[in-house]
Amino acid sequence: MSEEIKICSRRYINMSYVLTFLFTTLLFGASSTELSENFYEISCPNFTSIVKEEVGARLKTEPRMGASLLRLHFHDCFATGCDASVLLDDTASFIGEKRSEPNNNSARGFEVIDNMKVKVETICPGIVSCADILAAAARDSLGGPSWNVLFGRRDSTTANKTASNMNIKGPHSNLNDLIQGYASQGFTPQELVALSGGHTIGLAKCQFFTSRLSDGNIDPSFKKSLKDFCKVNGENGSHPLDMKTPLTFDNNYFMLLTQLRGLLHSDQQLLKEPTKHFVEVYANNKTAFFEDFTGVMIKMSKLGTLTGNSGIIRTNCRSILS
Ligand code: HEM
Ligand SMILES: *[C@@H]1O[C@H](CO)[C@@H](O)[C@H](O)[C@H]1NC(C)=O
Ligand SMILES: *[C@@H]1O[C@H](CO)[C@@H](O)[C@H](O)[C@H]1NC(C)=O
Ligand SMILES: *[C@@H]1O[C@H](CO)[C@@H](O)[C@H](O)[C@H]1NC(C)=O
Ligand SMILES: *[C@@H]1O[C@H](CO)[C@@H](O)[C@H](O)[C@H]1NC(C)=O
Ligand SMILES: *[C@@H]1O[C@H](CO)[C@@H](O)[C@H](O)[C@H]1NC(C)=O
Repeated sequence: MSEEIKICSRRYINMSYVLTFLFTTLLFGASSTELSENFYEISCPNFTSIVKEEVGARLKTEPRMGASLLRLHFHDCFATGCDASVLLDDTASFIGEKRSEPNNNSARGFEVIDNMKVKVETICPGIVSCADILAAAARDSLGGPSWNVLFGRRDSTTANKTASNMNIKGPHSNLNDLIQGYASQGFTPQELVALSGGHTIGLAKCQFFTSRLSDGNIDPSFKKSLKDFCKVNGENGSHPLDMKTPLTFDNNYFMLLTQLRGLLHSDQQLLKEPTKHFVEVYANNKTAFFEDFTGVMIKMSKLGTLTGNSGIIRTNCRSILS
C-alpha cells in the first residue's frame, strides 16, 4: 500500500517536472516569437538606416511617396496581417492582393520597397523580412510623428485577394460599415478615427469621390471646386485628401471634416455620432492626434504577424520562389 503511494507520488513528481519543463519551453517559445524593437540589433543593425535613407531620397523626388508607403503598410496589415502579402505578384496558383479592388491601379510604392530590399540583402542576406521593411518605411515616410517600430515579422507564402477586398473598406462606406469593419480587426471607433488621420497626406482619384458630390453634407464651395477639378482631370485625376496641407502630416484632415470638406464619403461619415467627438478632439489638439495615431499604428503593425518559424524571409519581395 505505502509502496504504491510512493510510486504514485514519484510518478506525480516526475509528471509535474515534465509539465514544468514543457511549460517553460512554451513560455520561452512564446517570448521569442514576439515582435521587439531590437530584433535586428545583432543580425542587421543597419537595416533601419538603409530604409530611412531610401525613403528620404525618394521623398525628395516624389513627395507623394510617403503617403503611398503608409497606405501600402495599412493594406498589407488589414488583408491577412502584416506579412507582406500585398507585395506578392500574381502567380499560377493565386491572384495577388495587388489586383483587389482597393489596390488595383491604386496601390503604389512597390518599386521603392524592392530597392530597399536589394540594399538590405547586400549587407545582410536572408535576414530582414519584407514585412518589416514595409513597417519601417511607413514610419519613416510621414515626416510627422515617429515611433519605435517593432520587428520580427516574417513573410507570407501566399496572398489573399478576397481578404483584401473584404477587410479594406471602400470610400463609399457608411459609418456603421466602417465601425463594424474596424471592430472585426480589433479597433474601437476612436481608433478608427485616429487611423483615418492617415488621410492628412496623399491623393485620391475622382472616381472614388463622385458619390460625395451628391452628398448633402458637403460645403457648397468645396463641392463646386471638386466638380470643376474632376471635369478637367477626368476619373483618374487625383485630388489631395487634405487640400490645405497635402504634404504635411498634421491634424488638418480633422479640421476639414468639421468644415464639411472631407474628400471621401467615408471621411465625412466620421463627423457623425458616435465618432464626431473624436474628430473634434483631434481637430483641436494635434498632440492628442499624434499620440493616438502613433499608438494605433503600433497596434495595427502587430495584426496577424508571422513570427518564429512561421512564414519565410523572401529574397525578392514580389515572389516566394527567389
Ligand atoms: C477608413 C477607411 C478608409 C477608406 C475608405 C480609405 C480609402 C482610400 C481611397 C479611396 C484612397 C484613394 C486611392 C486612389 O485614389 O488611388 C485612399 C488613399 C490613401 N489612404 Fe485611405 N482609406 C481608409 C483608411 C486609411 C487608413 C487607416 C490609412 C492609414 C493609416 C489610409 C491611408 C491612405 C493614404 C496615405 C492615402 C493616399 C495614398 C497615395 O497618395 O498614394 N487610409 N484611401
Ligand atoms: C552601418 O551604418 C553606419 C552608420 O551609418 C556606417 O558607418 C557603417 O559603415 C554601416 N555599415 C555597413 C556594413 O553598411
Ligand atoms: C485591374 O485593372 C486593370 C486595368 O484597368 C483591368 O484590366 C483589370 O481587369 C483589373 N483587375 C481586376 C482583377 O479587377
Ligand atoms: C481568404 O480570405 C477569406 C476572407 O477572409 C477567407 O474566407 C478565405 O478562407 C481565405 N483563403 C485562404 C486560402 O486562406
Ligand atoms: C483610368 O485608369 C484606368 C486604369 O488604368 C483605365 O482603364 C481607364 O481607361 C482610365 N480612364 C480614363 C478616362 O483615362
Ligand atoms: C491635448 O492632448 C494632450 C495629449 O492627450 C493633452 O495632454 C493636452 O492636455 C491636450 N491639450 C488641450 C488643450 O486639451
